[in-house]
Amino acid sequence: MIIRPAKNILGALRLPGDKSISHRYAMLAAIAEGTTRLANFSTGADCANTVACVQQLGCAVRKNQDGTIEIEGRERLQPPETSLDCGNSGSTMRMLPGILAGQDFACDLHGDESLTRRPMGRIITPLRLMGAEISAAAGDRPPLHIRGAKLHAIEYTTPIASAQVKSAVLFAGLFAEGETAVEEPHRTRDHTEQALRAFGVELSRSKNRVTVRGHQKLKAIEAAVPGDISSAAFFLCAAALFPGSNLVIESVLLNPTRASLLDVMKILGARLSVINLEEHHGELVGTIKVEYGKLTGTTIAGAQSVALIDELPVLAAIGPYTRDGIEIRDAKELRVKESDRIALVAKNLRAMGAECEEREDGLRVPGNQKLHGAEIDSGGDHRIAMAFAVAALRAEGQSVIHGAESAKISFPEFFEMLESVVER
Ligand code: S3P
Repeated sequence: MIIRPAKNILGALRLPGDKSISHRYAMLAAIAEGTTRLANFSTGADCANTVACVQQLGCAVRKNQDGTIEIEGRERLQPPETSLDCGNSGSTMRMLPGILAGQDFACDLHGDESLTRRPMGRIITPLRLMGAEISAAAGDRPPLHIRGAKLHAIEYTTPIASAQVKSAVLFAGLFAEGETAVEEPHRTRDHTEQALRAFGVELSRSKNRVTVRGHQKLKAIEAAVPGDISSAAFFLCAAALFPGSNLVIESVLLNPTRASLLDVMKILGARLSVINLEEHHGELVGTIKVEYGKLTGTTIAGAQSVALIDELPVLAAIGPYTRDGIEIRDAKELRVKESDRIALVAKNLRAMGAECEEREDGLRVPGNQKLHGAEIDSGGDHRIAMAFAVAALRAEGQSVIHGAESAKISFPEFFEMLESVVER
């Protein structure tokens, strides 16, 4: 994909449904009583993998002409005939096992080359503690083999802050005898808690601890999935780079555990406003308007790094265009995402002529730098491809994004939508 420099970002967008919420709604629909009907479901390949897995587990799925998707829940899932293909999707591979752990059959899950490199010990440990048989082929890497069992509740403190791990344990908690509690070191996205409530499950939260009682009945829902804020991040950052920008993004997810990007952009100096706030199934949704403001600089660390984990690549990629630069700390998890995102961000910034310091747990990107167009290596990672498409908009000369098709993992429409708001 070739990206030429831009002059401005202008227009209005509405984005496909949030990836995190789409995964959770599809998984819970599978075990709920009745038919769940979802509008604006994520168009990404990751969520399509979750839906295909749910189908393989015996749930009828219908894609309607009006773009909605219907999933029929089942009292008992069926053993799949073949291994469940999670593709590139860490969320499918880490969250679905929470449900599979409570079934009365065994099955396998596998993924693509990138997913096969990602650690699964983080879900294997708690699910074993709950009574499931679960093993990985090589150390703690996929493929996974799971044999469901009668589960018992545990009280689990996650060693790393991970919404996926929290979700796997809470999902397994639905099938366990007793009350399952998960405590996390930093608060992670709470879509699982909101989704469980939407499907009729009672749970309680106190600070960073969530508790769910087993054997509660889930009831199907009708919902419109809010626009994905992690996809919106690319456009918000792009718009903030040009003095004449004016961009509106409608119906975006604004759940406080996901919307830290807006705080950071305000700290940086972008002019942002939010209107039409509404709540749907516990999720805040609203319209964001962004305009240019001279970008200063900031450090992102601790709980903020956890909250912004998927937005860090694009924030680092615009770091050179800020006055004082962007520093990212406490983000070691970036090294075990779809790619080693710290290494790839550093490599691509350097390819564009920027200075940056790569650290074990983050990066320091000095500000006030001029970048030139370059050959970008996305490493097959959707967020790297999209982050550098944004950086390329303000570089001198054109850039080539290699592996740009990886955008389809979360946001197949990205490049087309970007072109629709770029003024040259
Ligand atoms: C996700 C949680 C995050 C995030 C991923 C989606 C989720 O991963 O990076 O893209 O939907 O729960 P971790 O839970 O591993 O931090």
